[in-house]
Amino acid sequence: MPYKPTHSKRYLLPSLLIWAFTIGAFSLKDTDISQYILQTPPHFGKLYQIPEDNPMSEEAVTLGRMLFFDPILSRDSSMSCGTCHQPQKAFTDGKAFSTGIKGHHSRRSAMSLVNLLWTKEFFWDGRATSLEEQALIPIQDSLEMNLSLEEAVQRLRNTKNYPRLFKKAFGSKKITAQNIAKAIAQFERTLISANSRYDKIILGEVQPTEREQRAIQLFMTHPVPEAGLRGANCGDCHGSHLTTLNTFHDNGLDKNPTDKGRGAITGRSYDEGKMRAPSLRNIALTAPYMHDGRFGTLREVLEHYNEHIQPSPQLDPLIMEATNEMHGESLLLTEQEKEDILLFMHMLTDSTFITDERFQNPFRR
Ligand code: HEC
Ligand code: HEC
Repeated sequence: MPYKPTHSKRYLLPSLLIWAFTIGAFSLKDTDISQYILQTPPHFGKLYQIPEDNPMSEEAVTLGRMLFFDPILSRDSSMSCGTCHQPQKAFTDGKAFSTGIKGHHSRRSAMSLVNLLWTKEFFWDGRATSLEEQALIPIQDSLEMNLSLEEAVQRLRNTKNYPRLFKKAFGSKKITAQNIAKAIAQFERTLISANSRYDKIILGEVQPTEREQRAIQLFMTHPVPEAGLRGANCGDCHGSHLTTLNTFHDNGLDKNPTDKGRGAITGRSYDEGKMRAPSLRNIALTAPYMHDGRFGTLREVLEHYNEHIQPSPQLDPLIMEATNEMHGESLLLTEQEKEDILLFMHMLTDSTFITDERFQNPFRR
């Protein structure tokens, strides 16, 4: 059966028998919570965990979506999470450095929010270890939404709707920062993109063309010129059907990286300049590229990997030794091979994901 992102309701008391006994004794109240059945695509595997203290419910996902798009959570009420993470741009903002409130520039480029259920370390440098922890960071960040958590809670308490919505989602009208984070995290876990041309090929729903087949193979293969095996080695870091192994690398952008990336988190010099290799899903929609948005097009990205790798002590060995020619010093892909890799990246666009009604701004008119 083809994977179709759907969700269904399962009530807490599913058995008709129990219903028969209890009907009349009590009726569905505000505090009845419907479990959210998260359908995950079979080819992504089950290597994910939903925190035990934040089980998913329809009510909390709905609340999380509202909080995600509500500018009430920024100091001057000018922006929401959705300002920097826009559905039609695969949840990025199209800028090298995001613009926070009062036009401040954030330190890095906004990341696409996709298939986060399978991510364990968030941000380019992996400094947040859960979506719940991550969600409270941009709200307080002085360059982003710049609102204290006390004020965020206070503001929501003073609205007409939110106390009722929190009660529906978490059984209590009392709004807490923790529950704000939980609701947003639940919404983010539903952002699953698995309906691109590449997925349809993997799931056997469509036949790849010869060129598409070649493109997938090139992308995933590490070259071995001695054996006549050609490849672009992208899959070494952007591997698996998720197109990321969620690992940290120096991909040769700078000799002396100014942004210490992972190194600032671990305190180890050999992590300096390393960033998480992000998912490439919907990559054609998320320009500009890299943590600082230095490349405007995918062709520039490819030219970087093919011929402009900058050596640094941390440069990834997988990149350092990857070449398609005996004794070659760089990747040395042919023009046709570059076109094929570009084709592969375009095969990762999922138009049903970006137009999914459940992910759109609920406040838009
Ligand atoms: C001003 C723009 C801006 C706003 C507003 C913003 N973000 Fe982000 N977001 C970013 C940037 C920039 C990064 C990468 C930052 C870094 O790596 O240090 C990011 C990264 C993330 C990530 C990490 C994704 C990954 O794959 O690791 C998540 C999740 C996220 N944001 C969710 C949110 C949520 C939830 C909100 C609202 C509470 C929000 N963002 C508000 C710009 C923004
Ligand atoms: C050794 C690991 C590694 C290999 C091999 C690799 N990448 Fe990357 N890739 C990364 C890392 C790490 C980043 C993020 C770097 C940064 O922003 O500082 C990245 C970023 C990207 C981005 C930008 C993503 C975004 O959201 O801005 C694209 C596109 C990309 N890589 C494509 C490729 C392609 C195509 C190949 C093969 C030719 C490839 N990568 C090979 C590790 C790798």
